[in-house]
Amino acid sequence: MTDLIWLNGEIIPFDEARLNIEDRGFQFADGVYEVIRIYNAIPFTLAEHLARLEKSAQAIGIPLPLSLDDLSQEIHKLIAQSKLQEAMVYLQLTRGVAPRNHQFPDHPRPTLLFYTRPLPPVLQPGDAPGVKLCSVPDERWKRCWIKSIALLPNILAKNHAIAHGFDEAAFVEEGILSECSSSNLFAIFANTLVTAPAGPRVLPGITRAVLLDLAPQTGLQVDERPLLEQELLRADEVFITSTTREISWVSHYNQNSITPHCGPQTLRLHLALRDKITTDMR
Ligand code: PDD
Repeated sequence: MTDLIWLNGEIIPFDEARLNIEDRGFQFADGVYEVIRIYNAIPFTLAEHLARLEKSAQAIGIPLPLSLDDLSQEIHKLIAQSKLQEAMVYLQLTRGVAPRNHQFPDHPRPTLLFYTRPLPPVLQPGDAPGVKLCSVPDERWKRCWIKSIALLPNILAKNHAIAHGFDEAAFVEEGILSECSSSNLFAIFANTLVTAPAGPRVLPGITRAVLLDLAPQTGLQVDERPLLEQELLRADEVFITSTTREISWVSHYNQNSITPHCGPQTLRLHLALRDKITTDMR
């Protein structure tokens, strides 16, 4: 099966896709993106991802070239043609092609593209090894709620973590933890689930939102508030979330051990997420 891509309204073989050197996404990272998980050939929480895309695009003044309903239909069409069951959709919207100039073009023609990639299924809740987090200073801009394609601080943070034997980097500023390089961060204290509020330093993760919704039915109350680095060390359980990883329990924060195995409340939340995925995919 040839890999396909939807590029500015057309589905074409991936290898035939061509982008202009003067696309502002390429030259200025002037664009936004989404990553959507496909289970059983069905995109999970697609409406939520498209709503976030619309907010991100509006925030930086890029008009969406088609309505969210039409976009949703086109995404379904590409998934059907790709014949993938377990996969993801990567979608990117840029301000389009214009002679290089910091000033916006008068009549931008945005570039919109999306394509699918197979993904291995996430391991059963609790089966994966724990994630080791390392702290990094938060050197990002203060509009992290926008899902911008400008990810240089995130990729530098992630690679710093990996180079030092960790799996993921957690951003810290003045002793306050916000989120990780490509995931949201949660801590559990007794029966309370704590995560930083979405906003200047935190992306409103779709997995995060789903879990905040599911938490009460697993016996957890939710407290959205800044999370102190010092507190994390005495949390009962810590985990991170994203579209591609679902939930990963955290075993270490820097040199400190958090838990030696996936905690029972994290496991319950993950099972509740799996239930929702199964129900939504029917
Ligand atoms: N990243 N925070 C950041 C900085 C992220 O990049 C992501 C996701 C999340 C989790 O958001 P969600 O639950 O909507 O996936 C939080 C995607 C997966 C990526 O860049 O590949």
